[in-house]
Amino acid sequence: MDRSPFYIDPDIRRAKTIATSFYTGADYLEQSKERIFAPSWQYIGHTGMAPEPGSYHPVTLLSPYIGEPLLLSRDKAGVLHCLSNVCTHRGNLLAWAPGKSSQLRCTYHGRIFQLDGTFTFMPEFEGVEDFPRNAIT
Ligand code: FES
Repeated sequence: MDRSPFYIDPDIRRAKTIATSFYTGADYLEQSKERIFAPSWQYIGHTGMAPEPGSYHPVTLLSPYIGEPLLLSRDKAGVLHCLSNVCTHRGNLLAWAPGKSSQLRCTYHGRIFQLDGTFTFMPEFEGVEDFPRNAIT
């Protein structure tokens, strides 16, 4: 039977206070990211942060504990998306502030993404065979 601090006994009569080390130990924080936060829903914002087609709003998931850069965007059809705000090339942030545009251009090497997350262009790569591959888009 799992007796780690993450174990929740279904019988409330056996409830115990979590040890202080759970709240102060860096290892428990790292485990909590995977065992508590990753498999559950987290609030990052509301639909009004990307109110109309072409609008986008960068957010950071549970900053500073998780710190995952995300992007709320509304594509040209008006569909709301929650995307990674990290360029697939070398990891540069795609959007640094809320804005409105038909696409996002990475300021590092110029990759272009649509607001639904679709990769559409990489400078100097015109005509390269098998590019972009699904694994890197
Ligand atoms: S890091 Fe974005 S295009 Fe290179």
